[in-house]
Amino acid sequence: MTAKDFILKTYPNTLKSGSVTWQSPSNIALVKYWGKKDNQIPANPSISFTLDACKTTTTLTFSKKENDSNFSFDVFLDDKKQDDFKPKIETFFKRIEKYVPFIKDYHFDIDTKNTFPHSSGIASSASGMSALALCLMSVEKLLIESDVSSSAVETFQNKDYFNQKASFLARLGSGSACRSIQGDLIVWGKHKEIEGSSDFFGVKYPFYVHKNFKNYHDTILLVDKGEKQVSSTVGHNLMHTHPFAEERFAQAHNNLSKLISVFKEGDLKSFIEIVESEALTLHAMMMTSMPYFILMKPNTLEIINKIWRFRQDTGLHICFTLDAGANVHILYPEKEADEIYKFINNELVVYCQNGHYICDRIGFGAKKID
Ligand code: DP6
Repeated sequence: MTAKDFILKTYPNTLKSGSVTWQSPSNIALVKYWGKKDNQIPANPSISFTLDACKTTTTLTFSKKENDSNFSFDVFLDDKKQDDFKPKIETFFKRIEKYVPFIKDYHFDIDTKNTFPHSSGIASSASGMSALALCLMSVEKLLIESDVSSSAVETFQNKDYFNQKASFLARLGSGSACRSIQGDLIVWGKHKEIEGSSDFFGVKYPFYVHKNFKNYHDTILLVDKGEKQVSSTVGHNLMHTHPFAEERFAQAHNNLSKLISVFKEGDLKSFIEIVESEALTLHAMMMTSMPYFILMKPNTLEIINKIWRFRQDTGLHICFTLDAGANVHILYPEKEADEIYKFINNELVVYCQNGHYICDRIGFGAKKID
């Protein structure tokens, strides 16, 4: 699939109005996407666990408008109009217009709700942009199906097309969002050992995964719920002039290669090494860019040190990963969940802002709500 395969040739335009709803999860990267080229093309491949509990539900209501050639939409979060979200969505619409040209023919109301608090410091762009991309795909499907003679009807009978184009569009809203359409393990970015992998959309990890990695847990400790100190767009751009960028991109390819045998053999020890190193490398990149940032907080380090000590004392397979912020994702296998959860509750929750944390686990992707 190339970008132009996502442009349909014919477009029946008969629908006056309607609405569609999708629920889409967040995801947590194991090998991180950090650095991008033009058109949201990642500088290196990444892989993530799709999450289950952290998700966004979006209802897209559309009504045909008169010959006005501008984008027309309103955004609501928890039923409140949210004009500060508009610029990001306007940019998204501009980027995707070529692939979903009907968006200029309609006015849209975008009603969105997150299962996690918006101000929690949890990235809502992955779940939010993927939910919106899926809604737009459902509108495209309705349009195509409204004319049974359309040659594109067949295209939509292929489920891969729907998911791949949804992921393709989501990527243009926010890179990591393209990994939220499906589950449970998604690769985005071309990697030589992963057939079918693409810079344009996420694909399901195609190889055997040992049972140790089934139902993996992710408990998210909310250390700092404030606004992000650096937007991911600014962070990605800093990689263009970063002195260690090329080594970092090569390392990501390498780590993804190593994960193939780790997943196959159920090697939790090596999994921990790769995942923690990826998290710290992401932060090291930020600390060594110009300008430089420290996004961890003292409590982030307290938590990391406690995790390391507990792991050494018990031999349990607990590890952490980080996004571009201070919150800590604690990853652990299902079979050790009871003991590790007790430890989190007794010893780590004190480091969370207002004691807040979210219990999540691997999930299987977005769902259409009828
Ligand atoms: C650190 O997907 O938020 O979470 O494409 O600019 O929207 P944009 O960036 P975004 O970057 C996420 C970066 C990360 C690592 C990851 O999820 O792979």
